[in-house]
Amino acid sequence: MEKRLNRFRIVTDGKKFKKVFDLDDPGPKGLPNGMIKNEDLEKIDAGSIFSFGGKKYFVLPCSLQEYIMEFMQRKTQIVYPKEAGYIILNLDISPGKKVGEAGTGTGALTAVFSRAVGDKGSVYTFEKRKDFAEIIQRNLEPCWEYDNIHFHNHPLQEAELPGDFDAFFIDMKYPWEVLNIVKDSLKPGGRLGLLLPTTNQVTRIISTLQAEGYFINEISEILRRGYKPNPERFRPEDLMTGHTGYLIFACKIKNSEEGS
Ligand SMILES: C[S@@+](CC[C@H](N)C(=O)[O-])C[C@H]1O[C@@H](n2cnc3c(N)ncnc32)[C@H](O)[C@@H]1O
Repeated sequence: MEKRLNRFRIVTDGKKFKKVFDLDDPGPKGLPNGMIKNEDLEKIDAGSIFSFGGKKYFVLPCSLQEYIMEFMQRKTQIVYPKEAGYIILNLDISPGKKVGEAGTGTGALTAVFSRAVGDKGSVYTFEKRKDFAEIIQRNLEPCWEYDNIHFHNHPLQEAELPGDFDAFFIDMKYPWEVLNIVKDSLKPGGRLGLLLPTTNQVTRIISTLQAEGYFINEISEILRRGYKPNPERFRPEDLMTGHTGYLIFACKIKNSEEGS
């Protein structure tokens, strides 16, 4: 498996400056105290320290989380890593699974799903905005550790869904419009996840899920507070992301009286 994220490096001074650099881009890279040549940065192993203009910097390997948070060009609100990890577990996404997603947006969650299902799994992702296609392609290209992403650039409602999905995630403004199509495409017992930013969307989706015959497993939100690594003055970071969205998890229920 080719690890395409290997071409990225985090450079940080361990304080305010932290940036992801793409070593495949031959141009010089901007540090707070000047420009470093790409060929000089390439020579520094990930996991080491170097001096530049009298200042110390750390060079670290770039994780998928850092790539998403620091490098992906955002066209939309994204599913944050704090939610993405929980979504993977709650939807029981593992190697070999078939997962659906609407909408693709920036591609942040698509990248996480792709890694989780691996080379035997597949991710079918739908984005209605034609003008997002290029940026999604550019964002996802370095994450294609596996050839498992099927990107469809049209509304989910126009899709001929392949069916037999193990799980489906919906992150779009009007999810109630697609709950019935998604239900048809899920396996019985298949898992559905949704992210919604406002409470009025949540109350509406609860009613629609119940009317569509889904079983609601969980409604929750995830708050993450970072801490400063200073043993003498150990305390939380000053700023935090106060709200991203509510997570709703449900299961497709087959009515046994409907037959198979
Ligand atoms: C909040 S963004 C999704 C962000 C994505 N989860 C991520 O982590 O990058 C919502 C996206 O849904 C798309 N969308 C809205 N309705 C859609 C539909 N019916 N079919 C496909 N995409 C849709 C929007 O164009 C938008 O790009």
